[in-house]
Amino acid sequence: MRKKIVAGNWKMNKNLAETEALLSDLKTKLGKTEAEIIVAPTFTNLYNVTEALRQADIKVAAQNMHQAENGAYTGEISADMLKSIGVEIVILGHSERRAYFGETDALLADKVNTALKHNMMVIFCFGEELQDRKSDNHFSVVENQLKNGIFHIDASAWKNVILAYEPVWAIGTGETASPDQAQEMHAFIRATIAKAYNDTIANEVAILYGGSVKPNNAEEIFAKPDVDGGLIGGASLDAESFAAIAKAI
Ligand code: 13P
Repeated sequence: MRKKIVAGNWKMNKNLAETEALLSDLKTKLGKTEAEIIVAPTFTNLYNVTEALRQADIKVAAQNMHQAENGAYTGEISADMLKSIGVEIVILGHSERRAYFGETDALLADKVNTALKHNMMVIFCFGEELQDRKSDNHFSVVENQLKNGIFHIDASAWKNVILAYEPVWAIGTGETASPDQAQEMHAFIRATIAKAYNDTIANEVAILYGGSVKPNNAEEIFAKPDVDGGLIGGASLDAESFAAIAKAI
């Protein structure tokens, strides 16, 4: 059985006090959900959030990580640093990292290796841009992102991978992929994994959808058979809407 997951990517939002307020609000509002819940606060708040969630059923992810073990990389954060404060999950390959910070598939392949070597769970993000979809290249773009960024890993490492399909044109735009568009791409992703690896891996990996998921559209997106949950940006910054999305699973 594949896991259902709802993850909140808080991006560069919320200072420490705001983060703590959101967390305590979330703890009271979340209630029962079948989904595994993950939150990804900014680096400066990771330690406090990890401490605050020790007894809670919410996991914590970092939004990024450097590929090197340590060294002269001013401003960067290593896998060991994350692990040392109890962070076991890392988001890699978010389209904002790719677009604004020049993260390439090759760099991401390195980051994936480092995270897996440290036995971390990787939430690997990818997705096409609007012009790719308009020119009907969205499947090949996604296939290449997977092949070049993550298909080098051993079959045994897939148990530590969650995929997040996030079409760039749907992120923060209020425009979502329709449930059918999401299902079509998720089924394609699974078929691509089955071809490169095998059916078992393809059927067991959780594939999340991300891009303007809100309380009013979550249920129909999550109802699709190959959509195993969501990676939520804007709507995860409000406890009530994040809780409503988590309950829609
Ligand atoms: P929005 O939900 O704000 O569109 O962001 C999605 C996202 O980028 C999650 O990583």
